[in-house]
Amino acid sequence: MRIAILGGDGFVGWPTCLHLSAQGHEVHILDNLSRRWIDTELGVQSLTPMDSIQERCRIWKEVTGETIHFHLLDLAKEYERLKQWLVEIRPEAVIHFAEQRAAPYSMKTDRHKVYTVNNNTNATHNLLAAMVESGIDAHLVHLGTMGVYGYSSVGAPIPEGYLDVTIDTPAGPKEQEILYPTRPGSVYHMTKSLDQILFQFYAQNDGLRITDLHQGIVWGTHTDQTRRHEQLINRFDYDGDYGTVLNRFLIQAAIGYPLTVHGTGGQTRAFIHIQDSVRCIELALKDAPDRGDRVKIFNQMTETHRVRDLAEKVAGLTGAEVKYLPNPRKEAPENDLIVKNDQFLALGLNPTTLAEGLLSEVVDVAKKYAHRIDRSRVAAVSAWTKDIAAKVDHDPEGKALRSVS
Ligand SMILES: NC(=O)c1ccc[n+]([C@@H]2O[C@H](COP(=O)([O-])OP(=O)(O)OC[C@H]3O[C@@H](n4cnc5c(N)ncnc54)[C@H](O)[C@@H]3O)[C@@H](O)[C@H]2O)c1
Repeated sequence: MRIAILGGDGFVGWPTCLHLSAQGHEVHILDNLSRRWIDTELGVQSLTPMDSIQERCRIWKEVTGETIHFHLLDLAKEYERLKQWLVEIRPEAVIHFAEQRAAPYSMKTDRHKVYTVNNNTNATHNLLAAMVESGIDAHLVHLGTMGVYGYSSVGAPIPEGYLDVTIDTPAGPKEQEILYPTRPGSVYHMTKSLDQILFQFYAQNDGLRITDLHQGIVWGTHTDQTRRHEQLINRFDYDGDYGTVLNRFLIQAAIGYPLTVHGTGGQTRAFIHIQDSVRCIELALKDAPDRGDRVKIFNQMTETHRVRDLAEKVAGLTGAEVKYLPNPRKEAPENDLIVKNDQFLALGLNPTTLAEGLLSEVVDVAKKYAHRIDRSRVAAVSAWTKDIAAKVDHDPEGKALRSVS
């Protein structure tokens, strides 16, 4: 299959490109490299040494003989070039990762809120409009997030996208299926909630074939393909804005920094290993909806954990100390989370569990590259409101926080 991978230079995008190229698909990356520029803005770098995208593609060709094409284009700003590119490539599938994906970055300042909304909403809408206009009949697979549902405890499992409701009408109760109500907890999550409505409209109005993957927090670094050469290594974000909770615990343990739990640590989140994430995308590609179908929604996660339990687990493996800090986020201090993921299990997903993979991540990745970590960038600095910002003023080692922007 000819596959366009938008955002293919990113943390989930790059191993997906390798995975699909290794299976014989023709892979075309589109990326504006904004994520690399954000590293420069924040004064951070990936824990793992990342080569340029062109160099990564060259190494892949050397190792496998397969070509991965790269195209530099801003999906949110260059509509006409995008349309032309789609007409030239005529992809049979499009995988859309190309959004600003960090909740803390989206809440940093008003400028970051505006950037995140402009970038993410325009990227998704430009793509949908260009797919209709260019007349390509590609299956669109989008990476959404479990966070669109919010993290309030309703007690019932979160279904895969849709909810059956009964509405009282003058003629009596009527059954209806609706999109599961969103309750975004950050500007970033809000843009993913808006994406859902855009998808619903274009599937219904233009018959676009769309799959939306509501993904949990991705952890881990390596996949079978990124292991094939040192220069194919995946990126690993550890800083307070882009680092995700479990990967941050791993590097904190590796450098003798306290494991930072925000608030009570009673927040329950959904997780998935990077190897399973790329496998799920492959499975979703093979299970495309037909024209005229509703948007297909999967919950792309394999396990749920409370943040403080994760910290204890990593502390148990490594001897690290756990520290409780004021929470920069505005969120429920404790929540339960039960999630249905039956569709991927039915398609044959065999999950990598935390219990199997954690220790090798600490040793093979976090400890190996620990010398590249800037301790002053580890603490989380972006607060959800000005009132909260006043309380989040020091790192776990008692030093004042440094925010760069
Ligand atoms: N990493 C996670 O834990 C996680 C969890 C749930 C959902 N997701 C979703 O998966 C997708 C990929 O996440 P990731 O962790 O790989 O993020 P990432 O930031 O590493 O990668 C995103 C890529 O998209 C590119 N990009 C952003 N805006 C663009 C634009 N306007 N034009 C062209 N390229 C653009 C960036 O340069 C980057 O290479 C995101 O949409 C994210 O919301 C990620």
